[in-house]
Amino acid sequence: MTIRLGSVALVATLAVPLASHPTRQAQAPGLTFSRDIAPIVFERCTACHRPGQAAPFSLLSYDDVRRRARLIADVTRRRYMPPWKPVAGFGGPFLDERRLTDEELQRIARWVEMGAPEGDPADLRRRREWTEDWRLGSPDLVVTMPEPYRLRADGSSVFRTFVIPIPITQAKFVAGLEYRPGNAPVVHHANLRVDRTRTSRELDEADPLPGYEGRLSPGAQYPDGYFLGWTPGQLPWQGPKGMAWRLEPGTDFVVQVHMQPSGRPEILQSSIGLYFTDRPPDRTPMMLRLGRHDIDIPPGASRYVTSDHYRLPVDVEVLAVQPHAHYRAREVKGFALLPDGT
Ligand code: HEC
Repeated sequence: MTIRLGSVALVATLAVPLASHPTRQAQAPGLTFSRDIAPIVFERCTACHRPGQAAPFSLLSYDDVRRRARLIADVTRRRYMPPWKPVAGFGGPFLDERRLTDEELQRIARWVEMGAPEGDPADLRRRREWTEDWRLGSPDLVVTMPEPYRLRADGSSVFRTFVIPIPITQAKFVAGLEYRPGNAPVVHHANLRVDRTRTSRELDEADPLPGYEGRLSPGAQYPDGYFLGWTPGQLPWQGPKGMAWRLEPGTDFVVQVHMQPSGRPEILQSSIGLYFTDRPPDRTPMMLRLGRHDIDIPPGASRYVTSDHYRLPVDVEVLAVQPHAHYRAREVKGFALLPDGT
């Protein structure tokens, strides 16, 4: 078995200086939106910057982008956009990396300096058309929250857990999954678990409104070592080959949703599209949780640091890392120390 440990560092605030020497391509004359900028925007921005998604405005057309050209140059230079927490140079490359390359950054900056010209709209060959279709094709099964939830107009965040029954009569192997919030602009994030014990269902039934608030039932677990969830712009989940997870009849999805009121009453009705495979898993991932329950930050402390570590007894392959600290942490770092000392 191979060792392939990635070391990762994840921070909540990013400030990466521009490389000091622009590349030749960035200096090339005649940058246009249609030819040089649109491919970046459609690849890296419009997953969120289109109607019905998390971002507050669309970046689907030349006009959308031109109107905010200076702001776009600024937020990309500061690496505030696109949101991407991993710091360059630690571990990776990561799948579905959203970070702009230095060359792309400079291309945007140069184009804005040149007055943000449109160029020939015929050059818009790489335009990605967003459709309402499921991203991985037609799902084998779609399950939806039995009733819509009404989110109040004002106030602080709402954490609520919804239970979605899965109507299957025999065990299935899940190879892929897409969560659709149903109202993406109000969803900060969602975590997806499964419950075979019906205890989540009981908690839901005890609450007159759809879903329930408060602690999750211990019966609600992530499937076989995966942390399934959704954050704005996230791509649908697809397991590595040969690593599907087994879904038993009588299982419910348990979706814990962090919602942010928008100023108007909102409706939320999430659904989940499932993709099955006949191939049973050859390998099952395992989740290793590092964390502490003795965090005690003294009043006024400006730099409180806590850590945890674990020595692996076997070789492993790291598939995913999920830092999680709600609003309390400014910076999360994760390192793998390899046997050779690196
Ligand atoms: C993962 C989702 C996501 C992606 C991808 C994304 N954005 Fe955003 N963007 C947001 C959200 C949400 C906001 C509003 C909240 C905020 O400003 O943080 C925002 C705000 C902005 C703003 C306004 C910032 C301000 O200070 O008012 C600009 C400009 C912007 N994005 C440009 C871009 C560009 C350019 C890209 C691609 C290179 C991009 N975004 C990719 C989610 C995204």
